[in-house]
Amino acid sequence: MIRAKISGIGSYLPEKILTNEELEKMVDTSDEWITTRTGIKERHIAKENETTVDIAEKASERAIEDANINPEDIDAILFATITPDMIFPSCACLLQDRLQTSNCMAMDFAAACSGFIYGLHIANCLIKTSEAKNVLLVASEKLSSIVDYTDRNTCVLFGDGAGAVIISKTEEDRGILSTYIGSDGSKAELLKKEGGATRLPFNKMSPFDYKKQYLYMDGKAIFKSAVQRMTESLSFALNKANLTFNDLDMIIPHQANLRIIEMVREYGKLKENQVFVNLHKTGNTSAASIPIALDEAIKSGKLKKDNVVGLTAFGGGLTFGSAIIKI
Ligand code: ACO
Repeated sequence: MIRAKISGIGSYLPEKILTNEELEKMVDTSDEWITTRTGIKERHIAKENETTVDIAEKASERAIEDANINPEDIDAILFATITPDMIFPSCACLLQDRLQTSNCMAMDFAAACSGFIYGLHIANCLIKTSEAKNVLLVASEKLSSIVDYTDRNTCVLFGDGAGAVIISKTEEDRGILSTYIGSDGSKAELLKKEGGATRLPFNKMSPFDYKKQYLYMDGKAIFKSAVQRMTESLSFALNKANLTFNDLDMIIPHQANLRIIEMVREYGKLKENQVFVNLHKTGNTSAASIPIALDEAIKSGKLKKDNVVGLTAFGGGLTFGSAIIKI
């Protein structure tokens, strides 16, 4: 049976760290509020001239090296981001040139925090139904470029970073066991960045529209949907793989809020050490959050060969999804 397995993984977090204490000097907030409401202590922020593709390149190089393949062996580049370098051409094409891969298919997609799960689903389909042998899936975000650092409701939550995997064709009994993805566009207005595209081009923005160049989020409403959609999609993905929560060695949820993660853990009746958390060091890096965490879980030895892991995410769109993977 042909499967799609993760044959290499890498991640990159920009050097500069922004702590809760530093944020206390920028907006009316406190380390205590941020820690108890979210679990976040610090996040990485890219340099002003460092773009989403720059950090994606570093994560991708690490994944390619880890997979022990050459860039020209890559048959497709899938790039998940909501903070592209330009509206077009795609980040995937810019990355194709940087990495000097084959002249392969290269495309971006915007599924916000669910971007990596969406990407796994597409990579799985490509590996199983086309001639592709190796797919580079990279999720990279420079959220600091769309966050309003005068808005305490959002600026404490987000960080920058990139994670990449090489998904390869295999006949081994490992890899992506199932995926379940979905969307609910009726809640699109809960999480958005409105300005700078066709609905509200920059040249049509009045001074009153100033805030619309930044990310907007109705945190409370998102919170409720997040818990429901993550637990539901994880159950559906497990069901598709003929597994239950008891079969999981670990879950790696999207790193948005520790309280959301705790609720997902309780739903699955999982032990604390079965849930990987690194948001205290990264904040919410949107699509990049799961591959950054997965990289850390594997490299630190917490996830081992043959372990079964559930990945689950939720984000703007609204989008949601889960994947079950045997390492
Ligand atoms: N510091 C201090 N006080 C704050 C801060 C802050 N940084 N931010 C908000 N507050 C205040 C609010 O103004 C409010 O005050 P009020 O009662 O006087 O109006 C109070 O704290 C409580 O605010 P709530 O919104 O009720 O806080 P809540 O407990 O819901 O936590 C949070 C907010 C952390 C945003 C939470 O709702 C959350 O995590 N939501 C989900 C976010 C998420 O999962 N996003 C995923 C997708 S992201 C993507 O796709 C890019």
